[in-house]
Amino acid sequence: MCGIVGYVGGESVGRDALDVVLAGLKRLEYRGYDSAGVALVADGELSVARKAGKLGNLVALLAEEPLPASQTAMGHTRWATHGGPTDRNAHPHRDCTGKVAVIHNGIIENFAQLRDELESAGCELSSDTDTETVAHLLSQEFEGAGRNLAEAMRRVCQRLEGAFTLVAVHADLPDVVVGARRNSPLVVGLGEGENFLASDVAAFIAYTREALELGQDQVVELRREGVTVTNFDGTPAAVRQFHVDWDAAAAEKGGYDYFMLKEIAEQPKAIADTLLGRVGLDGQLVLDEMRLSDEELREVDKVVIVSCGTSFHAGLIAKYAIEHWTRIPCEVELASEFRYRDPILSRSTLVIAISQSGETADTLMAVRHAREQRSRVLAICNTNGSTIPRESDAVVYTHAGPEIAVASTKAFLAQIVACYVVGLYLAQVRGTKFGDEIATVMDQINEMPAAVEKVLETIEPVRALARTLKDKKSVLFLGRHVGYPVALEGALKLKELAYMHAEGFAAGELKHGPIALIEEGVPVVVTVPSPSARHRLHDKIVSSIQEVRARGAHTIVIAEEGDEAVVPYANTLIRIPQVPTLLQPLVSTVPLQVFACEMATVKGYDVDQPRNLAKSVTVE
Ligand code: F6R
Repeated sequence: MCGIVGYVGGESVGRDALDVVLAGLKRLEYRGYDSAGVALVADGELSVARKAGKLGNLVALLAEEPLPASQTAMGHTRWATHGGPTDRNAHPHRDCTGKVAVIHNGIIENFAQLRDELESAGCELSSDTDTETVAHLLSQEFEGAGRNLAEAMRRVCQRLEGAFTLVAVHADLPDVVVGARRNSPLVVGLGEGENFLASDVAAFIAYTREALELGQDQVVELRREGVTVTNFDGTPAAVRQFHVDWDAAAAEKGGYDYFMLKEIAEQPKAIADTLLGRVGLDGQLVLDEMRLSDEELREVDKVVIVSCGTSFHAGLIAKYAIEHWTRIPCEVELASEFRYRDPILSRSTLVIAISQSGETADTLMAVRHAREQRSRVLAICNTNGSTIPRESDAVVYTHAGPEIAVASTKAFLAQIVACYVVGLYLAQVRGTKFGDEIATVMDQINEMPAAVEKVLETIEPVRALARTLKDKKSVLFLGRHVGYPVALEGALKLKELAYMHAEGFAAGELKHGPIALIEEGVPVVVTVPSPSARHRLHDKIVSSIQEVRARGAHTIVIAEEGDEAVVPYANTLIRIPQVPTLLQPLVSTVPLQVFACEMATVKGYDVDQPRNLAKSVTVE
């Protein structure tokens, strides 16, 4: 949801600030691609260029109308909220004097009031955005703040309501970039003779892996020789420095046509890395980012998982395992609904917030609500330094590496694995599973990277299938038990990438309504539980396949190797390895990801940047 980059360099480093900013924006384009813009300070002048559409449009504009060389610049890639995706609404926005430029991620909720105030004071606003008000306010405060842009920013921020990351430059300050952060992400990259600001470390990872995590309501002043971080009231702020444990290559396509394909291929590693170091020398599970004591975990009498989209589906899968292993009731709720229904929470509720980005506003608000009710919150997150882990009592990181494609893939599998490890840890602490039982499950999970690898090696027929079904209007997905959230995930992937009507159902619900959708030729994808599973759902789902096929559906059956019972009813059969029931989503989701990716490709859609979406949704 909007990508932001700021840079201050110097002669000793010899980089052109615009090059650094454009390279950073390229890496952040997944956050929004409605428009892009840059501002730079050179020779006491502020220059701005901005263009609707993808970054490529801005780059073309800059080729036609080059900007001067500079050592101080900032850039923005936009996911539109206030004001349509036009040139006029593209960031950066300037004040009336043309000396201040501002970029912004988030929503300023009191902008209408600020706008009225500015207009009554004679200020002419030239866009429909909430951001532009900040440029004018900064300009008004600048002189009174002793021509100190950071102080002007602090004063302005105290008047703003909502969620925002702001970055500003001033024509009179050739080596200063100022940033402010409330709720939306902003990290500092620490270089030598140069410093960086960005919504995500990916923007500056090619130059430095040392970063500072900015906290809530903080302002940072970036100069080439150092950074100063203060709270909105001007007091010095405590910040955490961290080392980014992946490099620039991890944020590049590495020979794949799309990031999504690369990330699908990286899933075995994402699982393996998420499992690394989880078992101590004594065979006990260790979660070293777990800042909750065993005592506190023994008090837990209810688990509530909150998350959105694909992360929500990971939570739905985790519920089966957590309840099975710990015997603690586990609810899973969409984060966007959670705090609005007055959920019953207490000190003994463990809220697990799952988020790849760690910035999703709905999930963050759910976390805050839970903590206000005194519940303990454990974050499962893929992004070091992000807001949700910072505001939680404990965090277990998924080590999937940077996920750039907007559609989540490797983070999803890593989330399931991390949830399972947390479930087993709870079982260990509470004694609901013995050490050897836990070790057996951990051994099985440790075999999953190889199992996923096997699925990937035999994936070609799934691509071919997508090509044959490209003109279908609608695809339905069915599953039972852990296969039900897999069906939801398969449908979500197809909707977001191929813009097709797709729905996931619990197969048992078919007869209660959805079967009316079945007509000649409708593709129905069915994930089949293992025939050996204790719950014996296999036979029931085979009946569901027969039912839809009898009504003309084109059945695409995902079943484990050796399951012969499904063969007569499958128009297309996709084999997955035999794995324990609770682990089946780790293999059965993969063909669905590839199916959606290929479908989008044959339809000519942008796989990594589907329309209307952004990777990190930092507004509610
Ligand atoms: C779908 C997808 C989204 C995210 C959702 C939550 O492919 O990526 O549904 O899963 O927006 O995002 P995080 O996990 O960052 O909180």
